[in-house]
Amino acid sequence: MAERTEYILSKKGEDKKKYDKAAARYDFFEFPMEVLAFSKWRKLLFGKVEGELILEVGIGTGKNIPYYSNGEYIGIDISRKMLEKAKDRVEKLGRKIDLIQCDAELLPFRDEVFDAIVSTYVFCSVENPVRGLKELYRVLKPNGRVYFLEHMRCENEIGGKVLDALNPIARLFGPEINRRTVENIRKAGFKIAEEKWLLTSVFRFIVAEKG
Ligand SMILES: C[S@@+](CC[C@H](N)C(=O)[O-])C[C@H]1O[C@@H](n2cnc3c(N)ncnc32)[C@H](O)[C@@H]1O
Repeated sequence: MAERTEYILSKKGEDKKKYDKAAARYDFFEFPMEVLAFSKWRKLLFGKVEGELILEVGIGTGKNIPYYSNGEYIGIDISRKMLEKAKDRVEKLGRKIDLIQCDAELLPFRDEVFDAIVSTYVFCSVENPVRGLKELYRVLKPNGRVYFLEHMRCENEIGGKVLDALNPIARLFGPEINRRTVENIRKAGFKIAEEKWLLTSVFRFIVAEKG
């Protein structure tokens, strides 16, 4: 099937609805993980991000904003409701960040404009992750870097099979829990500059560069 036709026939509207619905209670449900681990990992990631113009893909409710490095940030998300929450946070924190509703698989930016790209817990949800990652590749400057926090299928075969079995249930709420995200990043043309396992092989910090 031609790529364009496949895109038009996608279930993206359903995914968007899931995150629109989740927006109001998203921070509440994530709170335990945020306190136990995510806040520490966000700090680790933003300690490394450098650049003048930085894109955050799948900004959600804007939980990364308090950790942003210096530089100009643009945040995108497919869900309007998530972006409304992010806007509240931007205003509370007094930062100047442009927020745009769009799809990671079809970014409205010119080629090679961003010094760095950040994305946390997003490519478990993007419907066609490789297509989205190729878009990141396209808009990243040749010497730029992409910084990810992601959860994915673990390397342990038994654990991996458990995640495969639970995936249909997880998908009802939003993310897929058995993606092979490192492989997907490579498939999009990137090379892995750094990979750190944060909690078994499921949660990882990844830095990618243009291959
Ligand atoms: C699990 S949340 C993570 C939010 C935020 N990055 C964080 O760390 O809290 C995933 C986010 O990705 C967004 N998303 C899912 N598919 C997307 C797509 N194709 N394009 C842009 N954003 C997308 C969702 O709307 C949601 O806000």
